[in-house]
Amino acid sequence: MSITTVAIVTGASKGLGLALAQGLLGPNVHLITIARGQNSPLAEQATLASCTLKHVQADLSDPASFNTVIQPVIAALPRAASRYLLINNAGVVAPIGLAPSLDKLLAINQAFSLNVSSVIALTALFLQATQGLNADRRVLNISSGAGRGPTSGWGVYCATKAALDMYTQVVQAENHDLRIVSLAPGVIDTDMQSTIRDTSSSDFPNVDRFVQLHQHGQLAQASTIANAILTYMNSADFGTTVLDDIRHHL
Ligand SMILES: NC(=O)c1ccc[n+]([C@@H]2O[C@H](COP(=O)([O-])OP(=O)(O)OC[C@H]3O[C@@H](n4cnc5c(N)ncnc54)[C@H](OP(=O)(O)O)[C@@H]3O)[C@@H](O)[C@H]2O)c1
Repeated sequence: MSITTVAIVTGASKGLGLALAQGLLGPNVHLITIARGQNSPLAEQATLASCTLKHVQADLSDPASFNTVIQPVIAALPRAASRYLLINNAGVVAPIGLAPSLDKLLAINQAFSLNVSSVIALTALFLQATQGLNADRRVLNISSGAGRGPTSGWGVYCATKAALDMYTQVVQAENHDLRIVSLAPGVIDTDMQSTIRDTSSSDFPNVDRFVQLHQHGQLAQASTIANAILTYMNSADFGTTVLDDIRHHL
């Protein structure tokens, strides 16, 4: 089978990342997924869709795993495709708490490591592996409205997503012959939302708003958002607005 599209999706074991990976399945696609967990349903779906799938089970926030497990896979990307996609989707919202409680450096570092550092390093590997290929290269960073407006209790999460937005703008400014966007996906019914709802109001004063969104069925389905994101990522104007929000495209 000749591969025309190579796609990499991080955090594809569940939630939005799984829905994005499922939306990418198709003939002539080589899909690489990265997460700490297994992804067996996707493997069966990939076989049915005549798609080649490589699931890399690794912790993106761990430098040793990054170097020994992830780096070799990206360095060995197939080179004859006409389209290369990288979707940096994996993310964590923890640690949640007001500023005086955010004194655990390990948890803060883990959030920055996954939400920011791993994106920077994985994008570098992607740029290296696809350098000089006569191909369409697109990078999508899954950001959040939290990176664009301060939210009490999300000092760490907001800071990571703001950093992700700025990093994306820097790559765009460097003009690497690729299209890159940092995209807020809206509120989606995933495990991250249940983590948010389970937080105490002393740590997250906004918690009631998220409980209400859930109770009133106002969280989007991951598959709906994933389909809109993939349509947007395939569009001719992808990359013209570097900081975007999928709700502008629904
Ligand atoms: N849900 C929302 O309402 C919402 C709103 C705005 C932005 N976002 C953003 O959307 C993205 C996806 O969120 P989601 O709601 O789908 O979250 P989710 O359901 O919690 O899924 C997170 C994914 O990231 C992976 N992951 C977590 N830590 C990892 C690590 N250290 N190494 C590798 N993979 C890791 C998880 O897999 P494993 O546990 O198997 O590793 C999982 O596949 C995130 O960037 C999030 O910030 C979500």
